Amino acid sequence: MGKSRMVQRHFSAIAARYDLANDILSFGLQRQWKRLAVRLLDPQPGDAVLDVCGGTADLAILSAAAMGLRGQVLVYDFNREMLETGLGKASRDSSGSSLTFIQGDAEAISLKDNSVNAAIVGFGVRNLTHLAQGFQEMHRVLKPGGRMVCLEFSQPPAKWFRLLYDLYSHAAIPLVGRILAGSWEAYTYLTGSIRQFPGPVELSAVIENSGFTEVTYRPLTGGIAVLHRGVKP
Ligand SMILES: C[S@@+](CC[C@H](N)C(=O)[O-])C[C@H]1O[C@@H](n2cnc3c(N)ncnc32)[C@H](O)[C@@H]1O
Repeated sequence: MGKSRMVQRHFSAIAARYDLANDILSFGLQRQWKRLAVRLLDPQPGDAVLDVCGGTADLAILSAAAMGLRGQVLVYDFNREMLETGLGKASRDSSGSSLTFIQGDAEAISLKDNSVNAAIVGFGVRNLTHLAQGFQEMHRVLKPGGRMVCLEFSQPPAKWFRLLYDLYSHAAIPLVGRILAGSWEAYTYLTGSIRQFPGPVELSAVIENSGFTEVTYRPLTGGIAVLHRGVKP
């Protein structure tokens, strides 16, 4: 099965319990990471913000709130079940009116060149078949001067922490995935995809090669997750 179909099946299977599984598996840390990501993006009132691989819309909801609901956030994702879960959540939140949900592929974003002020992607690029293509597409749709923030899992650089993390991810993550999302493979996929993903320095190079400048990164929680930022010149 191709990667894209596998990713679709994975998220269709877990969409309804995705948020809960994330909170449990990350001990709630994912909420703090997402708040930091949006703070780094710094969306301004009136901005058009694109949440790539936006899924259940957490980053979009936080971005809308950061703009005081005076802006537009596009939640862009290719999985219908994830978008529907996000739509339900946004409709129960005051940010709902600022959000637009679009189903489409992050490797061929259905927006015009130079059309958004800021782009954010949370735990999304790891799922792409062609990683660089995802960054090139964000770069294309951003206006000159536009900011891009990427929040992604990584592997802790400290040996002892990495060992602990490996143990945890091998044992607990698939188990919690099985109990909560009803799918063992779903979360085995998650741990595998984290291990194969480039480290922060390598990822910075991919971002730079996609046309971004001022590329910086910041490890979070001992390097379990990393925030990258870049600007379209
Ligand atoms: C781990 S979830 C992240 C959701 C959300 N951004 C968050 O931080 O909670 C990854 C999302 O990426 C989406 N996705 C994966 N590959 C994609 C692609 N090629 N195009 C659009 N969305 C994609 C999945 O459907 C899924 O909703």
